[in-house]
Amino acid sequence: MFRPRVVLRLFAIQRILLRHGLDEIVRATHLYRPLSWVRRLAPGHGRAYSEDESLGSRLRMALVELGPIFVKFGQSLSTRPDLLPADIATELAKLQDRVPPFSGEQAQQIVETALGRPVSEIFSRFDVEPLAAASIAQVHTAALESGEEVVIKVLRPNVRTNIEADLEVLYAMARLAERFWSESRRLRPVEVVGEYEKTVLDELDLMREAANAAQLGRNFDGSTKLYVPTVHWDYCRPTMLVTERIHGVPVADTTKLAESGTDFKRLAASGVEIFFTQVFQHNFFHADMHPGNIFVDVSNPAYPRYMAVDFGIVGTLSSRDQHYLAENFLAFFNRDYHRVAKLHIDSGWVPPETRLDELESAFRTVCEPIFNKPLSEISFGQFLVRLFRTARRFDMEVQPQLILLQKTLLNIEGLGRQLYPQLDLWETAQPILEKWMTDRLSGRAVLGRLREQLPDLSETIEAMPQLLQQLVQQAADGQLEIRVRDPAMAALERQIAADSKRRYVTASGTAILIAGTLWIGFAANPAWLGWALVASAAVLLWRARPRALTGRRNSRGKY
Ligand SMILES: Nc1ncnc2c1ncn2[C@@H]1O[C@H](COP(=O)(O)OP(=O)(O)O)[C@@H](O)[C@H]1O
Ligand SMILES: [Mg+2]
Repeated sequence: MFRPRVVLRLFAIQRILLRHGLDEIVRATHLYRPLSWVRRLAPGHGRAYSEDESLGSRLRMALVELGPIFVKFGQSLSTRPDLLPADIATELAKLQDRVPPFSGEQAQQIVETALGRPVSEIFSRFDVEPLAAASIAQVHTAALESGEEVVIKVLRPNVRTNIEADLEVLYAMARLAERFWSESRRLRPVEVVGEYEKTVLDELDLMREAANAAQLGRNFDGSTKLYVPTVHWDYCRPTMLVTERIHGVPVADTTKLAESGTDFKRLAASGVEIFFTQVFQHNFFHADMHPGNIFVDVSNPAYPRYMAVDFGIVGTLSSRDQHYLAENFLAFFNRDYHRVAKLHIDSGWVPPETRLDELESAFRTVCEPIFNKPLSEISFGQFLVRLFRTARRFDMEVQPQLILLQKTLLNIEGLGRQLYPQLDLWETAQPILEKWMTDRLSGRAVLGRLREQLPDLSETIEAMPQLLQQLVQQAADGQLEIRVRDPAMAALERQIAADSKRRYVTASGTAILIAGTLWIGFAANPAWLGWALVASAAVLLWRARPRALTGRRNSRGKY
């Protein structure tokens, strides 16, 4: 099922997990179920943790030992409080994506290969000592011939190959978990790895990051609240990104911000405002909003301005999702759970046959406790977490873009509250949301949308008479056929296909078994051929055995 390299890596992972006392995971994913005895024989799985270490911190240490891609995976899991218990998420959030830098000479080499010229011909200065290093890229400072200070982000050598190899292993584990672990119905490990894969692979194309930076810069052109460094396109390649160097105070350095007299209230509120503007007005949001990527320009401390870097991950929502999200927020703050439930059904987020009253009651149960606090302390992020957790029970497939949004919102709120604990999120967000809703429903906006759809609409109208004529003709000829894609039907089709394959394999196995037995019985030569036939028959028959009888059945009823 898995390639030998993956199996070997899985063995190594098992050893590390066991050393950190994570037997639970090994058992849940049934890593090496058929070879469980190997586990007992496996040398050197001495325990590397003390008894009072929490599950979260053991998991964190195991991930560090497993390497940078697993660390990044852990970080991305830490932003999923809808999936993980809070204590584990908090532990994983401590993971640092800091790895030893690769040599500056190597970085210089990559730059020279990408641009096809020696560094000395391109830059008036290139600092070999890196400014920062992470698992995917590292950053160097330099100056252009014009004297402008820039930063150069360079992808790590072989990063794509390494990431793809680790992703294969992560997928293997997720599939094992999906097959053997009852919790996987709720946690959907393969889907989680899939989302991670998408973001991490996107980060490997620095041209894409450059384009994101440029778009965000355009959206905030002239803004007093957010500054985005300029992209130096002439020097950008898929493996390198060159942007203007910014000089701001790291947002986490609150001491320095305080010393310079920063207006924290304004700073915190503008963070929330920027986020809602990105999501609802621009429909383009920076989705990697952790403090390491945010700086503050305090040249005018009464009106501090954010400066963002690192544009590898951005999100956009479909206008439908945008609309339903805004409506959900507003309905939630009016405690109108009936509306929240109805929105979920109307938007198609949950299947149409979902019972409205049950969904409404579930939302009430999880959201009502949030309102125990004063309005100013209510967290939008927590609300989304609870919403998605509940909706998932009702078979909502939470879209990756909404997950990104949830994650970013939690980051922004965390940041805002750290800067100014009394920050009233609702006070800041409500006017933006309401304005967006009114603008959207205004006559002009509706007309605008209609005009956008007009070309499509007119084509459909033009084609209509002909389509109708065809339809009537087909109906008259008795050839009208309507195809229905029903998931239950598709499952039945798959089941029938699997059954007939099994019957075929069983018949072949039996035939080979008879041949083998006859061969041995008549002492035909060569003798090993008879045994080989019997052995292959045994393998075939074993694989085609009716699984229901073995009683191994996972939570989804698959065998
Ligand atoms: N334009 C810039 N000006 C100044 N410092 C920068 C700039 N871009 C990145 N940095 C610094 O380099 C670090 C890493 O860059 P970043 O783009 O966040 O890479 P990564 O994707 O590895 O996190 C940032 O946290 C910041 O300290
Ligand atoms: Mg960063």
